[in-house]
Parts: sequence; structure tokens; C-alpha cells
Amino acid sequence: PDFTVEILPEVDSTNTELMRRARAGQTEPTLLVAERQTAGRGRMGRVWQSQPGDSLTFSLSLPIAPKDWSGLSLAVGLSLAESLHPQVGLKWPNDLWVQERKLGGILVEAASMGGRSQVVIGVGLNIRPRPAEGMNTPPAALTEWLHDISAPAALALVAAPLIQTILAFEQTGFAPLQQRFEARDVLKGRRVHTSDGAQGMSLGVSASGALRLQTDSGVLDIHSSEVSVRPF
Ligand code: BTN
Repeated sequence: PDFTVEILPEVDSTNTELMRRARAGQTEPTLLVAERQTAGRGRMGRVWQSQPGDSLTFSLSLPIAPKDWSGLSLAVGLSLAESLHPQVGLKWPNDLWVQERKLGGILVEAASMGGRSQVVIGVGLNIRPRPAEGMNTPPAALTEWLHDISAPAALALVAAPLIQTILAFEQTGFAPLQQRFEARDVLKGRRVHTSDGAQGMSLGVSASGALRLQTDSGVLDIHSSEVSVRPF
């Protein structure tokens, strides 16, 4: 489809803005880039903080109606990782991860109105290194591998393949991507625990994008967005 591309010097959050438009009935496929977000959001109520130029922050909005939504955010992460660099790994469900550090995150939201659904996919990607906040390890940044890359250049690398991935996902779901995800899965074979108390060894992801955990009481499938996972 044709995409409207919009660049805003400042917005509260590109996801919030595109969700507002979706709820107001706007279905036009849109790519919205912000130079600065004043209220960037992450998954599970977290904040996404970034300074202009230090990160690439954008969202895509498009009307899609997949039979099964599960695995969409994994497909998005996979597309980004494959567009960026062979070293970029994936930490379930959809963090971009390099050498035990977070390179980027994805926030997938959807608005449905009278049988139609509009999906809003937000991407935050660290471009330049910045200091750690609090006790966390400092995040990874793309310029550590791709020395001169800027936010617009990173956007040019990832945007078209990402749109193709989302349209393909609408037709065929996550299953055809399972093995490619596995090739970049940084949790597979490691002991992990989830925020709601499950723990075990990661067996990888299922054909629908669930995290498969070998626990003491059997194999547990954990579905996207229920939990967060940290390696021990
Ligand atoms: C996460 O790691 O929890 C997801 C982070 C997603 C951040 C991006 S930045 C562009 C878009 N707008 C937002 O408010 N959030 C996403």
C-alpha cells in the first residue's frame, strides 16, 4: 500500500498519536517519525526515554486483519534484526538484544472499530550510546557496529522490509518465521524466569510465537505480552 510518511519535531508518543488517529477512524497507512517524544511508552506501562538523535523513534499504522495476531510483535522484531545486522539477537517477545544488552524495543497496539482493526507498531532503536539509568546495564547502540549510521539512515534500512513483513504476516502468520526467529533467539537453552513467577529452561518459541519453557512440572507455553523475561 501507499504510506504517508510524516516527521514531527515533537510529539508525546508516536504510538499514542497514531492510536488517537485510529480511534478517530483514520485507516490510512502511516509512518510517523518523531525527532523528540515527550511521553514515549514501552511495554507494560514502562517509559521509553530518548534524546533527539540518540535514538530512532517511529510508529507504523495500518489496517490489517490477520486470522491470528499472536506472533506479530515477534515478526516485527525479526524483520528489524534481519535488516540491521547479523549480530542483532532477539529476546522474547520482541526486544532487540546484542551482547546481553538492549538495542531496541517494540510496542504493538491495536484499535478495533466495528469489525475493522488498525494496528500501530512502535519501534525505538538506540542509535548512539547513552549512560545507564539506575542499576540497569547501559543499553546497546547501533553506532557500536555501524559506525556512521544516523537515525534517518537506520529508518531507511528497516522501513520497507518491515512493511513487507507485516503484510506477509497478515496472510501467513508467524509459523513461516519460526526458524528464522530461532536463529537469533538469545534465550534458547538458557534458564529464565518470568515476571509472574514461572521459571525454567527456554526451549525456544512455538509456531504461534509463544515462549516454550521446560519447567519442573512440564512444558509451559507463555504467550506474548503476559510476562517479561530475564536471563538468570
Ligand atoms: C519496549 O521496549 O518496552 C518498547 C519500546 C517502544 C518504544 C517506541 S519509540 C516509538 C514508539 N512510540 C512510543 O511511545 N513507543 C514506541
